[in-house]
Amino acid sequence: MTDLLIDLSFGDCGKGRVVDYLVANENYQLVCRAQGGSNAGHTVTKDDGTQFKLHLIPSGILADNVRCLIGNGVVINVDKLSSEIEGLLKAGVSVFDKLRISSSAHLLTEVHIEEDSEKERKSGGKIGTTKQGIGPAYAHKAYRDNLRMESLFNEAPWDQMIVDGYTYLQTAIDEEKKILIEGANGTMLDIDHGTYPFVTSSNTTVGGLLSGLGLAPQKVKRVIGLTKAYTTRVGNGPFPTEDTGERGQQIAKNGNEFGATTGRPRRCGYLDLPMLRYAIRINGVTELVVTKLDVLSGMPLKYCYAYKNPKTEEIITEWASDWEHIVDNFKPVYSSIEGFGGDIKETRDYDSLPTMAKRYLMMIESELGVPITYVSVGPKRNQMIKMI
Ligand code: GDP
Ligand code: IMO
Ligand code: MG
Repeated sequence: MTDLLIDLSFGDCGKGRVVDYLVANENYQLVCRAQGGSNAGHTVTKDDGTQFKLHLIPSGILADNVRCLIGNGVVINVDKLSSEIEGLLKAGVSVFDKLRISSSAHLLTEVHIEEDSEKERKSGGKIGTTKQGIGPAYAHKAYRDNLRMESLFNEAPWDQMIVDGYTYLQTAIDEEKKILIEGANGTMLDIDHGTYPFVTSSNTTVGGLLSGLGLAPQKVKRVIGLTKAYTTRVGNGPFPTEDTGERGQQIAKNGNEFGATTGRPRRCGYLDLPMLRYAIRINGVTELVVTKLDVLSGMPLKYCYAYKNPKTEEIITEWASDWEHIVDNFKPVYSSIEGFGGDIKETRDYDSLPTMAKRYLMMIESELGVPITYVSVGPKRNQMIKMI
């Protein structure tokens, strides 16, 4: 059985944290990355508070009895990967036993990083990339003049880690292993379906996860869509529900909203239901995980349920590909419910949540028409509420 986990927003919805939880609690045996590179920063916090920031290695690596695969769709900076491996080895994780890398994954080199930085410099930081070389690496893959992991076949330690990705995955499927595919970046950063050109350079949505591994769609069972209880974005580009005022700053402070890769402050704002409806349809989401509900304690629970054109009064309830049309002509329409107080990080069952927190979750579920299966109330592995 193979399940996908996809970020429905601009990234950083807690993929690392949720993958770590799911692998430990739902006994996944193989976790794969399929796209992106070290632009991703996936934070895993163990129950004792030890924190890991994973960029290329799947976030399942910290769980026991799990294998991990970096698929063909990922662009790999081997220096970054080496230091990530080193960090995990120091923490006692047997990375060489657990991790395998597809021979078809492309290499990301210093040249790509320089090109990325240079492009950003020349454009005055137009996109606000992570400067990890992602765009140039995918560009050279498309130019068909780039090297792949197979070129390191005879070099230690890669000689023990490189596999034929197709065979590795299909064998796991044939052996009926429980497999989780960990998306990177977010739906709204998808190169085709996101807010182009303010996007990353891979398909972060369902198709990218399939082609980034060579996985057939019939093998997918659950598509787990991830959203924060609010919205954040790091880097430039449209963010209609952003609050640049005091409330946005309060969310940033409570949620400790700083990029896991670059340390840049994340822009903060309100839950955007029309955007989530778009992301849910594109990915075929079958269930939702809501993270960081604890962060909204002490604040009104404000959310955008539609967009309205003030001139024509036209209302839209779902985002579309042509984001410029929406941003130029429509304004978010908000509603809010009374907030809840207190620290909910230690709450472990839905019934014990404050009434208003429950109302907010029920609103999300009924507005989006997809069941919420988990609610994260803190960064640590066990700070999770199982809804079913
Ligand atoms: P990812 O890129 O989707 O894996 O997310 P990041 O790791 O970049 O950012 C999520 C941040 O929120 C990390 O610092 C996590 O430790 C933290 N986090 C995740 N879930 C929760 C939660 O439910 N509550 C709080 N307070 N923090 C969380
Ligand atoms: P995770 O997996 C948040 C953003 C960058 C920039 C744009 C392009 O942690 O959710 P790139 O370096 O990819 O060319 O940058 O995309 N971006 C992310 N923002 N989380 C990420 O990954 C991101 N990966 C890329 O900030 O705006
Ligand atoms: Mg991140």
